[in-house]
Amino acid sequence: MTDTIDPILNDRVSRRAVLAAASVVPATALVAAHAQSSGNAPLSSGRTHNKAALVTGASRGIGAAIAQRLARDGYQVVINYRGSKDQAVALVREIQRAGGQALEAQADVGDSQAVRQLFDTCEQSFGGIDVVVANAGVAHTVPFAEMTDEDFEHIMNVNIRGSFYTLREAARRVREGGHIIALSSSLTVLRSPGSGPYAASKAALEVFVNVLAKELAGRQISVNAVAPGPVNTSLFTTGKTPEQIAAVAARTPHKRLGEPADIAAVVAALCGPDCAWINGQVIFANGGLV
Ligand SMILES: NC(=O)c1ccc[n+]([C@@H]2O[C@H](COP(=O)([O-])OP(=O)(O)OC[C@H]3O[C@@H](n4cnc5c(N)ncnc54)[C@H](OP(=O)(O)O)[C@@H]3O)[C@@H](O)[C@H]2O)c1
Repeated sequence: MTDTIDPILNDRVSRRAVLAAASVVPATALVAAHAQSSGNAPLSSGRTHNKAALVTGASRGIGAAIAQRLARDGYQVVINYRGSKDQAVALVREIQRAGGQALEAQADVGDSQAVRQLFDTCEQSFGGIDVVVANAGVAHTVPFAEMTDEDFEHIMNVNIRGSFYTLREAARRVREGGHIIALSSSLTVLRSPGSGPYAASKAALEVFVNVLAKELAGRQISVNAVAPGPVNTSLFTTGKTPEQIAAVAARTPHKRLGEPADIAAVVAALCGPDCAWINGQVIFANGGLV
């Protein structure tokens, strides 16, 4: 899919307006808290604590970085992919070479039966599920007038239906004390031209997270969303010129795009002991994008 307009470049909403419109917890604070709690030294690879994590859409991009980070932090990891088998297998081997435990599992998150089997695979292989990251997502940013029925259906099928199937199975199966995290987007508040269906699909996901956090009361499971700004993956860079990408990077105080590892660090922090009191929230991880 290609972007015909850049929602970030076209956005005119100030950071102040974004902050006013949303319940924002600075991601940097979470990462700092996690680093402090672990003495800035995460578990080295191979030191599993017999907990398992399932990451959807982990063959590449942000999901792959999350899977790598959770493996480094001691989780046994299921790496879900839809079509990129070679990349998923390569990531499993990389984690195993570093002493971690991982396996790849194909499933289209838009297929409820496939999602059930994905969770079965995690339980049968690792004995249970402690962390679920609903990361699989697709973006297509064009103005309303240009969006086809097929593209609209695709966004809704993966981002809403797929996230619902993933979160429903997570609600049924994540063990007490676990964590459920979904990947939203800063576009839910930026609402840039061209972002309508994509941002709306992510806004639905934020509602899912908030409601699910309440429904799981009593099980000591936290449910949160992480909402990145532009991150250096093919989802963001495809269809943009180097000049357009540089212009977006210039809009963050650090003058760079987010990297997948930046987002993985926030997810890891939410799975850490110091973030147990953060529940039902949307964490904006966008480097202070304005
Ligand atoms: N990159 C950004 O700037 C940005 C910003 C805000 C939010 N996000 C969100 O962060 C998440 C990850 O984005 P990304 O940038 O890492 O994207 P990406 O590089 O395009 O990777 C997308 C991943 O999702 C998987 N996937 C897509 N459709 C799937 C399906 N139906 N079933 C299972 N897996 C599926 C892909 O698997 P295959 O390769 O096997 O198809 C791939 O592993 C998405 O939810 C996205 O909306 C990204």
